[in-house]
Amino acid sequence: MKSEACELILKAIRERRSIRRYTDEVPPRELILKILDTAIWAPSGLNNQPWRFVIVWSEEVKEKLSKLTKYSGIVKSAKVLIVVLLDRAKMYHQIKDHQSAGALIQNILLSASACGLGSCWLGEILNREDEVKETLGLDPKAYELCAVITLGNPDDSSK
Ligand SMILES: Cc1cc2nc3c(=O)[nH]c(=O)nc-3n(C[C@H](O)[C@H](O)[C@H](O)COP(=O)(O)O)c2cc1C
Repeated sequence: MKSEACELILKAIRERRSIRRYTDEVPPRELILKILDTAIWAPSGLNNQPWRFVIVWSEEVKEKLSKLTKYSGIVKSAKVLIVVLLDRAKMYHQIKDHQSAGALIQNILLSASACGLGSCWLGEILNREDEVKETLGLDPKAYELCAVITLGNPDDSSK
């Protein structure tokens, strides 16, 4: 017989969906930090934990980033962005480090969904990787961009 925790985890995985429109309500900072604190339990090759994040709350920065993707509407609607990067100094294998980042990103999406937040994994913005890093004031040689995750309270009227 399956445990209650098992059923809850399987349900959380099945119920996560990409959410692309959000309400004006800003998620609490503690909740975003709790989600990240959980996500970093993701596996990584050699346990090198090569991921780094930038959490974007600023409307001004969000606006600038929205101009770097054709999914600008999702970025503008989101109340928080988590930019996921790899620290080149911590990397040991291109494919495996990106797989680790993928595991971490999935953890963020699942944790967000389980906590009632909507999220969407944006990959298309990688086409403008250097401009994203420049916008965030990051050394382009030091980091590889993996994804931008949009977050917010789901706007149910968008369904
Ligand atoms: C690597 C990757 C890149 C993605 N890039 C985008 C993106 O740029 N824009 C977007 O709207 N969704 C993006 N998605 C979300 C997918 O479109 C979505 O996960 C897929 O359609 C399945 O829908 P679901 O997440 O609701 O199950 C991306 C997902 C992954 C895994």
